[in-house]
Amino acid sequence: STLTIDASKGRRIPDTFFGAFFEEINHAGAGGLWAELVKNRGFEAGGPNVPSNISPWSIIGDDSTIIVSTDRSSLFERNKIALRMDILCNQPQSCPSGGVGISNPGYWGMNVEKGNKYRVIFYVRALGGIDLDISFVGSEKGVKLASKKIKASGQKVAAWRRIETILEAKDTYHSASLQITTSTKGVVWLDQVSAMPLNTYKGHGFRNDLFQMVASIKPKFLRFPGGCFVEGDFLRNAFRWKDTVGKWEERPGHINDIWHYWTDDGLGYFEGLQLAEDLGALPIWVFNNGIGIHDEINTTAIKPFVQEALDGIEFARGSPKSRWGSLRASMGHPKPFDLRIVAVGNEECDKSNYQGNYLKFYKAIKKYYPDIQIITNCDGSEKPLEHPADLYDFHIYTNAHDMFSQSTKFDHAPRSGPKAFVSEYAVWHDDAGNGTLLAAVAEAAFLIGLERNSDIVPMVSYAPLFVNSNDRLWTPDAIAFDSYQHYGTPSYWIQHLFTTSSGATLLNSTLEASTTSIVASAIVYTNSEDKKNYIRIKVVNFGGDTQNFRINIKGSKVQSSGSKKTVITSPNVMDENSFSNPNKIVPKHTVIEEAREDMNVILAPYSVTCFDILK
Ligand code: AHR
Repeated sequence: STLTIDASKGRRIPDTFFGAFFEEINHAGAGGLWAELVKNRGFEAGGPNVPSNISPWSIIGDDSTIIVSTDRSSLFERNKIALRMDILCNQPQSCPSGGVGISNPGYWGMNVEKGNKYRVIFYVRALGGIDLDISFVGSEKGVKLASKKIKASGQKVAAWRRIETILEAKDTYHSASLQITTSTKGVVWLDQVSAMPLNTYKGHGFRNDLFQMVASIKPKFLRFPGGCFVEGDFLRNAFRWKDTVGKWEERPGHINDIWHYWTDDGLGYFEGLQLAEDLGALPIWVFNNGIGIHDEINTTAIKPFVQEALDGIEFARGSPKSRWGSLRASMGHPKPFDLRIVAVGNEECDKSNYQGNYLKFYKAIKKYYPDIQIITNCDGSEKPLEHPADLYDFHIYTNAHDMFSQSTKFDHAPRSGPKAFVSEYAVWHDDAGNGTLLAAVAEAAFLIGLERNSDIVPMVSYAPLFVNSNDRLWTPDAIAFDSYQHYGTPSYWIQHLFTTSSGATLLNSTLEASTTSIVASAIVYTNSEDKKNYIRIKVVNFGGDTQNFRINIKGSKVQSSGSKKTVITSPNVMDENSFSNPNKIVPKHTVIEEAREDMNVILAPYSVTCFDILK
């Protein structure tokens, strides 16, 4: 097969081409990117009624030494549940050594690392004084990794009081718990117990290693916070942005019913905007449009939802003097966020009220914010939309062969009218396992197809981005992690080959293929490190045979040295990465000894090969 490239002609790929989609799914945020260690920190996960389930907190002590219950005496209006401990024992007589109290295992164990510091904050009230031990405890033997004593006399804690302290770990344990214990008889209430590592990205609360994984795919946009998370199985559990901003202690949290877990909404709307800014990506806010998975608001009653979306835009980009912009400013970000694109919901086009609701949102947003681009989730790739839009959302989850063949999907899509935002793509089910080479190679072909059609597909992102391996509700995902480690799936590493595509020049190229298993494209980009111009040729071989491949560059000279080859492949198509072998399938780089305008190369079976040829 031959790829003939005309390096003298091309067209610019949009700057926004390659991005990321963050959804609160698989504990991506709570117990993931959001570095909070305490799970159910406000004791709200068991619901608003008492007595309530305080899981995963557990009690240290027995009936004769401590009684733990919940009541509705919290200081915070929107999350009334507080924890009450009646301590029946008294040191030295009847308390067990180490005292009695409560323990939190975090999200399948807290990662506590030697030398790291953790800010522990909690609210406390007591009848009498308090004499509490706050500790990180590791291993079954109860070894203390860090500990602080907090003492206060009766008067000081007669009303709710905020306590803040720093714990410094003396040792490392990846599966630690936070314990609050005492050996002093009395009654103590606790609420909003938080433990955050100090070394989050810029102190913004994002777990550093996971942040870096996203940053290294250089996303030019960040779509958030969902996905179906935005809709909720039922509207009463949808993501309501106003409940996720302001002080963390005052956020009510909510049941992420579609993905089956409680979230404290520590990573809320503000943090999503901050995350996009920290990544150097444009935020794309997906808001709830009055439609859940199983219920919907009639268009005649949609007005409050429209106002909620307008308020959300004002929060993001209004002046610090505006009603909602001032709340943003009070959270430490007086400068508006660069919100230019919003999506009216997620996947509701076939719902009875979608079109009606959509128009109400569209008209109101265009009236107050005419520059904002609006995304519909009705598919405009086959037939014209029935309503105005700047972009239409397109999702594809399919098997590997179909994904490979979908590389031509947009070849015949309308060239006028709204453009396509491919905000979710992935090979899934049998071909994908937890992230196979087979899936990744097929996705590379699909991405090459999008690159070739980037005149009408200005944005693309993989989904889902993250999975906590303890909660693989949706698989595969791009980045897998647990409390302390992570790895990228082959699909994640494929994305690395496209990070240079945003803002690059797509070259005219023609593929004469002797097999149907090859897909290829060529771009010119400037390397951000050496500032030199490279022709990047990406070739997918979606077949089990080695292929001879000819690259024929016309219209430009190339340097004989300074070029390199990157290959993603593995001996078996169903191979995956894992915690024990995270680098089994990653890009492998080699130097091209002598590059020429006309070269013959070899393509490994089921591989993606990327040639960076120095111009
Ligand atoms: O990416 C996982 C889910 O797939 C998203 O929440 C939804 O938009 C799609 O159905």
